[in-house]
Amino acid sequence: MRDRIERAAEWLKESEFAIALTGAGISVESGIPAFRGSQGLWDKYDPAEYATIEAFMSDPFKVWKMLKELYETVRRAEPNAAHRALAELEAMGKLRAVITQNVDSLHQRAGSRNVIEFHGSGETLTCLSCGGKFRIEDIDLENIPPLCHCGGILKPDVVFFGEPIPPEALKSAFELAERCDLLLVVGTSAQVYPAASIPRIARDSGARVVEINLEPTPLTHEVSHLFIEGKAGEILPEIAQLVKT
Ligand code: APR
Repeated sequence: MRDRIERAAEWLKESEFAIALTGAGISVESGIPAFRGSQGLWDKYDPAEYATIEAFMSDPFKVWKMLKELYETVRRAEPNAAHRALAELEAMGKLRAVITQNVDSLHQRAGSRNVIEFHGSGETLTCLSCGGKFRIEDIDLENIPPLCHCGGILKPDVVFFGEPIPPEALKSAFELAERCDLLLVVGTSAQVYPAASIPRIARDSGARVVEINLEPTPLTHEVSHLFIEGKAGEILPEIAQLVKT
């Protein structure tokens, strides 16, 4: 493993335009459960019943019970060493952007500045009736679903299954994937599209792809040039430390 970490650091040093794509796995060491794999959120809540826009519209109270649990977990979470390592690499000028599938804002809280939120953000909510905007810290989650002063139901600005990716995020992410010469893929099962097509776009555009995950994914044998098995919170700080020296 050590030689793979050293190779990843070498590639990062050589790169002119490195970016990262992150998934729920990078936030597991912050205490936020991933969706798939052991103790995955989708084992507890069927995504067909809780994570589609149709489910939300047909039973907002039921979906808000799951959302409330998720918000309470995210509220207690702090960025971990993996988030901080990516922020450090950006500060060193060795990482241009993080494209994240996560909605927990932990990359921004760790200090990353160029973050593309591919699946939106849990920080803000929109009224389904009048379009009014709210911040999560101003919402009292004791009464769910939270209502707008107009009486409309508030929906988090996260992408539910069946909703489009925010157009700006989609455009920026694909442009970055085409332009990068190194892509770090961290903590994603690579099962949800179009996010999962980003590594293939990067590779087809000539980038080296380094994948960090506890276990192999559909990318590992098809797309990744280098697979480093283990925890992001242990591997990324080691890579950042080697890049610094
Ligand atoms: N370090 C590295 N990888 C980890 C760690 C860790 N500490 N813990 C878990 N992982 C890996 C798992 O092995 C798995 O491959 O992170 C991945 C998490 O996969 P998912 O739970 O499927 O999360 P993600 O890939 O981000 O899901 C994509 O699906 O449900 C939708 O919108 C949701 O954005 C999410 C999308």
